[in-house]
Amino acid sequence: MPKVEREDQEAIKIRNIILSVANHKGGTGKTTFSVGLLAALMNPKRKMLLIDMDPQGNATDWLHKNVYNGMKNMGDIIRSALKDDISSGEGAEKFLSLVSSTTQVTSYGPKIGSYCIIPATLDLAQAKADMLARGDVASNRVIDAIRKISSFYDITIIDTPPQLEKLTFAALAASDFLVLVTTPELMAVGGAKDVADHIFPDVKKYYNNEIELLGVVMNQWTKTRLTNEVMPNIDILFGDGLLFKTPIKRSQSIMEMPSRRDFFHDFKKGRHSDGSNLEEFTLIAKELMSRINASYDRRGLRHA
Ligand SMILES: Nc1ncnc2c1ncn2[C@@H]1O[C@H](COP(=O)(O)OP(=O)(O)OP(=O)(O)O)[C@@H](O)[C@H]1O
Ligand SMILES: [Mg+2]
Repeated sequence: MPKVEREDQEAIKIRNIILSVANHKGGTGKTTFSVGLLAALMNPKRKMLLIDMDPQGNATDWLHKNVYNGMKNMGDIIRSALKDDISSGEGAEKFLSLVSSTTQVTSYGPKIGSYCIIPATLDLAQAKADMLARGDVASNRVIDAIRKISSFYDITIIDTPPQLEKLTFAALAASDFLVLVTTPELMAVGGAKDVADHIFPDVKKYYNNEIELLGVVMNQWTKTRLTNEVMPNIDILFGDGLLFKTPIKRSQSIMEMPSRRDFFHDFKKGRHSDGSNLEEFTLIAKELMSRINASYDRRGLRHA
């Protein structure tokens, strides 16, 4: 019998994971990490989706091959969920047809696999205003919409905006797991702590008891005294073992990636200026999958 690689076992075992990436503070690397994680987890056996839940549309500009004015985006999906009953019948059919025309698929061939993205444009800010106008029920409808879409994928990564706002709230409320991304600065760590202390408990209490804080990723790591002082504080602030073991280095090549527009090969073949490869995304992805497996084991869950 052929040996089944560990990666493949994970791909077979894990299904329908929804994972939000957040920090209240802007510019900490949420989008960079979401996209790097997508590259690291891409595998011919996995169906991968990235939902851009940020009206800035940074992940969209990076990953979407054909961005144009007025294109269908997450805002349309939210509006449709607010307007129609998407749970069954005609509403569900209309919704799924909208989702399929909004989703962009990019394939890297049978050996590497493919990914899908649901893009965002500024129009998503208007949809957020519609959600706010409709009150609480709106969140439930958007949560249902995200879950419905994600059920077609093995792993959904949601890149969220840098505020504790309705879109972030809805993303977390639909998610199984939350990953916080911070830099080694006081304000960035504070922004991550805001999510952990304010939005996360509310989401857990009122919408989604199952969501788990999977960990904190340290981005823009440099070998300085300040960084080394901040790192041990993460476990103290967020809980033992929550800091991912591998930090993401501050790196010119990471900074240049969005404008080069070949994210998969950039992450796989890119080099830091010291010549080392960009292995941190692969290492964090491995740790993330084993944390997810451990969480399922702890809770006695099996995702067929
Ligand atoms: N490890 C890194 N090394 C160098 N530059 C980085 C690194 N991580 C992110 N950057 C750069 O820092 C800027 C902010 O990163 P990114 O857009 O990923 O943050 P964000 O948290 O998604 O921002 P926002 O809150 O606006 O959504 C970008 O220009 C990005 O290229
Ligand atoms: Mg971003």
